This record gives sequence, structure tokens and C-alpha cells, in this order.
Amino acid sequence: MTGAEFNQWAQQTLADVESALEAWVPADAPAGLGLAMRYGVLDGGKRLRPLLVMAARQAVGGSTEPALRAAVAVELIHAYSLVHDDMPCMDNDVLRRGKPTVHVEFGEAQAMLAGDAMQALAFEVLTPETGVEPATQARLCGLLARSAGHAGMAGGQAIDLASTGRPLSEESLRDMHRRKTGALLQASVLMGAATGKVSDTAWAALAEYGSAIGLAFQVVDDILDVTQPSETLGKTAGKDEDCNKPTYVSVLGLDAARVYAHRLRDDALASLRRSGLSDTVWLAVLADKVVEREN
Ligand code: IPE
Ligand code: IPE
Ligand code: MG
Ligand code: MG
Ligand code: MG
Repeated sequence: MTGAEFNQWAQQTLADVESALEAWVPADAPAGLGLAMRYGVLDGGKRLRPLLVMAARQAVGGSTEPALRAAVAVELIHAYSLVHDDMPCMDNDVLRRGKPTVHVEFGEAQAMLAGDAMQALAFEVLTPETGVEPATQARLCGLLARSAGHAGMAGGQAIDLASTGRPLSEESLRDMHRRKTGALLQASVLMGAATGKVSDTAWAALAEYGSAIGLAFQVVDDILDVTQPSETLGKTAGKDEDCNKPTYVSVLGLDAARVYAHRLRDDALASLRRSGLSDTVWLAVLADKVVEREN
């Protein structure tokens, strides 16, 4: 496998996801809601979660249609979480994906509703009349709902807000990061895996892989917040310190945070080796990208 082969696979996958998002996020939702939704979802973002869904599908030889729907659904939940995360009542950010945030462009009420509608749309996309077995639909919905709700992203965001300006133990910080960010990344991997048939061993190994890269992703997000300029990030740099957020950088320091991210990447790769699956090469490359990325 070469870097060029990965790039070719990723480019094709991203093009498929982009045209599905383009087709499924409605421009004609009432009273400008569609414009706000499309602004928040289309034309921006690394689309890492869709890539994880598709790489996991590849690893298990799963079906294409449910995987594409899962990839779109998870990106919709992610984009909704960003729209709400940026609102004045949360992180109060004005820049996202290199553009003014949704509430800056469309107002707070419309941003809140755009997020609500994206969340519902994710589950609509997972439940088509035809094309995906009912049992697979139910499984995908369950995985996504559990990762997005109180036990996952929304719960983690609640801890994040409650912890602002307070010191957190490393253990509590890890728990918060696993929920607010890790859960959705892990769900991306497991949703991809749920489009095929896998042994219990492979499922458990993929869950461990997803857990490790999910946490690593937020550790690196904390690092990039202090090491990269806003132009590279496409969002406001230095925000965590400004807002007094406990992060891996504030709790461990920059060097130890970097070491930890690499350790998690190694744990993820070890999980792939334990999976017994033969075609995990894209998942392995994505684990590297999570840790080596610059934005
Ligand atoms: C940013 O996620 C928010 C976190 C969960 C850390 P991404 O870095 O994946 O954001 P986009 O999708 O590329 O904009
Ligand atoms: C966000 O964490 C996690 C989400 C669930 C959106 P951050 O608040 O650190 O994400 P950024 O840095 O604004 O993208
Ligand atoms: Mg936040
Ligand atoms: Mg934020
Ligand atoms: Mg951040």
C-alpha cells in the first residue's frame, strides 16, 4: 500500500460522501433553515468520521449502501455538535471551518434549529424505505444514538461546560474526552463494521481501536489549539486557554500530551492486529492521520 493509493481511496470516498450530503441536506427546508443546515454541513471539514465508517466497512467486507448512509449520518451528528458547540451559550466561537460560525451568519435561534434538524436528518438517512435491511437500520441507529446522547457527546459536552475554570484530574479529563469526542469516532468505526458480518473478537478489537483513536483525536485537538494558528485550524486558536478549559495540554503539558497521543495510536494499531481481519490498512493509515494531522 502506498500513500498514493490511500489518497486515491480517500478522494473517491470523500467525493461519494460529499455528493450524498449535497443530495440529502435539503435546500428547501422552511424559512431559511435549509440554508443554515447546508452552510453548517457542506463544503468544509476533514470528514474523518465518514472515512472511518468506510475504512471499517472495507475491513469487514460490508455493504456499500448502509455504509454510505452511516457515513453521512455520523457527519451530520458531528456537524450539528459543532454548530451548537460554537454558540455563545457554549464555547462562543465566531470561526469554524474557515468561515463565520452558523450563529454569526444566521442568528442564534436558526443555529439551534439547524443543529436540531441535522440531528433528526441523521436518523432519517439511516432509515430509508428500501436498500438497507431493517435489522441493520436498527443497529446503526442504536450505535449512533448511544454515542451522540447523554452517555456520549451530549453528556461529554455537559461535563465540558461544568468543568470550565476548574482543575480536572487526568481520569476525569479522559472520561470527558471519551464522551464528548471519542464516542462518535468509535461509533463511526462500529457503524462501518455493522454493515458486514464480524466475529465477536473482531468487533471487540474494532471497538478498542475506535476508543483509542477517539480519545487520541481530542488529545490532538487540545494540542493543536495551542500549536497552530487560526488560519491553519480554520477555527480560533488559543481558545481553550482563553476560556479556561481543562485540556490534555493544561493537565499533562504539551510534551506529555504528544507522547500520550502516540501511545494511543500504538494501542489502536495493536487492536487492529488482534482483530484477525486482513484488510485493515485504511484504518491503520487513519490512526496515523489522527495523530499526525495539523488541523
Ligand atoms: C472538531 O472536529 C471538534 C472535535 C470533536 C474535536 P474535527 O477536527 O473533526 O472538525 P472538522 O469536521 O474537520 O471541521
Ligand atoms: C468539541 O470540543 C467537541 C464536540 C463535541 C463538538 P472542542 O470545543 O474542543 O472543539 P473545537 O476545538 O471547538 O472544534
Ligand atoms: Mg467545546
Ligand atoms: Mg469548541
Ligand atoms: Mg478544541
